[in-house]
Amino acid sequence: MFITFEGVDGSGKSTQARLLAEHLRGDGRDVVATREPGGTELGERVREILLGGDAVSPWTEAALFAAARAQLVAEVIRPALDRGADVVCDRYIDSSLAYQGLARGLGVERVLELNLLVIGGRLPDRTFLLLVPLDQAAVRRGSNPDRIEREGDEFVARVDGAYRELAGIFAQRIVTVDATQPPQEVAELIRGHIRDLS
Ligand code: TYD
Repeated sequence: MFITFEGVDGSGKSTQARLLAEHLRGDGRDVVATREPGGTELGERVREILLGGDAVSPWTEAALFAAARAQLVAEVIRPALDRGADVVCDRYIDSSLAYQGLARGLGVERVLELNLLVIGGRLPDRTFLLLVPLDQAAVRRGSNPDRIEREGDEFVARVDGAYRELAGIFAQRIVTVDATQPPQEVAELIRGHIRDLS
């Protein structure tokens, strides 16, 4: 299985990705947990460029996220899936569709096309989109924002709207999860969906 987690910063997706990976390992499954941007040495370097202080044009941003993703697929995701492991990834293609395609206005179709090329068409089997009220996400985000987080409330609201739109477009793949509940309850809900899948 290839599972991804998505949501605005502070939605709790990293916690849920970790809890799911731990649960699957507990079941004796071979699990590779990874994250974007990053997850490879090249990806971590791209991450520094992207989330550091300097201005980055929207298409540069989309291309760099895509480059990091291409490397992650080649180095980590594809080999893991090929040997039969499960892959749990914190952010993937939908982050680019939401942040660059919709919130930055580059267009979902064009960003999708770019990304499908670089990932060789390997979409996740399921994507969990964690939804929380934006004021709750802001509290969880805390005090050390990266360049994209510094865009402010209006941008976060656009990203949130973008994700909800994507959930409609990719209704077969994206499962929306009410992430306002305590983490263990959210995790149980997600495990329920996974049981139906495997
Ligand atoms: P994030 O998951 O928040 O990293 P961390 O939890 O370590 O801070 O990702 C960093 C930022 O990058 C986040 O604001 C979302 C943004 N992002 C995009 O804009 N497009 C993408 O394709 C990806 C993967 C992330």
